[in-house]
Amino acid sequence: MSEVFIPFHKPFITDDEVNEVADTIRSGWWTTGPKTIRFEKEFNSFIGSKYSVVTSSWTAAAHLALEAIGLQEGDEVIVPAITFTATAEIVCYFKAKPVIVDVQKDTFNIDPAEIEKAITPKTKAIIPVHYGGNPCDMDEIKEIARKHNIKVIEDAAHALPAEYKGKMVGTIGDVTCFSFYVTKTLATGEGGMLCTDDKEIADRCSIMRLHGINKDAWKRYSSEGSWYYEVVAPGFKYNFTDIQASLGLSQLKKINMMLAERERIFKKYNDLFLGNDLIQTYRCKSDRKSAYHLYPILLDIDRLKILRAQFIDELKHVGVGASVHFIPLYRHPFYNKTFQLNCNDFPVSEYLYPRIVTLPIWPGMTDEQIFKVADSVNSLTLKNKK
Ligand SMILES: Cc1ncc(COP(=O)(O)O)c(C=O)c1O
Repeated sequence: MSEVFIPFHKPFITDDEVNEVADTIRSGWWTTGPKTIRFEKEFNSFIGSKYSVVTSSWTAAAHLALEAIGLQEGDEVIVPAITFTATAEIVCYFKAKPVIVDVQKDTFNIDPAEIEKAITPKTKAIIPVHYGGNPCDMDEIKEIARKHNIKVIEDAAHALPAEYKGKMVGTIGDVTCFSFYVTKTLATGEGGMLCTDDKEIADRCSIMRLHGINKDAWKRYSSEGSWYYEVVAPGFKYNFTDIQASLGLSQLKKINMMLAERERIFKKYNDLFLGNDLIQTYRCKSDRKSAYHLYPILLDIDRLKILRAQFIDELKHVGVGASVHFIPLYRHPFYNKTFQLNCNDFPVSEYLYPRIVTLPIWPGMTDEQIFKVADSVNSLTLKNKK
């Protein structure tokens, strides 16, 4: 193993984050409080959404969104095959059915033509995932949703900040959910945000995220609050804390700088891989702006002597942390068995899955580190050429 390992991910931390967290700890107000409210407001202005509701994770935000649109047992929600389990598991919370559909070969995003084929009278929503921060074909998806009177809940866990045809992701579908998990483009350790222009959805989610108590439940122990509260529904414990908000406020100030960093790394990799025909790089469409959360490559496994798993092991051996985003949902035992899925029904995902490798991309990577990753990939592919 090489001495200086380049991790797959590293959060971008400065004294600003450390000081803001220390300030919160000293203040004694650790859970939901004034910094959480400030973060929610500042995030809302940044996205340009009408309402934002901050939560303990993407999973919590999207669960609340499905609850707010009234998802019921037996309903169906369309999700892409190439995503993290959270996108589909939240549907199962309702004993509803995640209907898994294939993706596009060039973007790895949900294929609108496959959505259309999967619609039934039971379909209540579509959850498009903006893979790696590259926005899905939202015009086509919204048109399908309009035609069939179903909701679009965007999985923007990777897409902060991103734009589709000049509009910020977060202002397009009925609800958009972001993640602030530690690997994400704005990190608070754990955390999530739901953006919507629908007041009813925003109000319902605000109440349900904290035990179904009225909106200002967090204030009940402050000098402005009251001991009296009413529970209007059996809610959840999905609130965000001021410790997380301290990280969020500091990170939000740097969001455009962190995006520029990711773009710089993305483009540099593209340049460094130009002459390598044993891999295929990922291209974003010109009418949208990616958040560059992931840097995926596709290995030309037919012309290589090693398989993807071995390739990742060898990268690790030379000091480069790589990963796979994602193992298709239908390949996981739970989804495969419960919904009796057949890999052959997902030809594009089956083509992509054995070839995908995701490489390190995080603000602060030095040119030397970028070069080392690219050089390792180029050398390994060349060395293992059939
Ligand atoms: C596409 C996608 N959706 C949802 C999630 C879940 O996010 P969280 O961990 O904030 O619940 C992730 C997290 O990795 C993700 O990659």
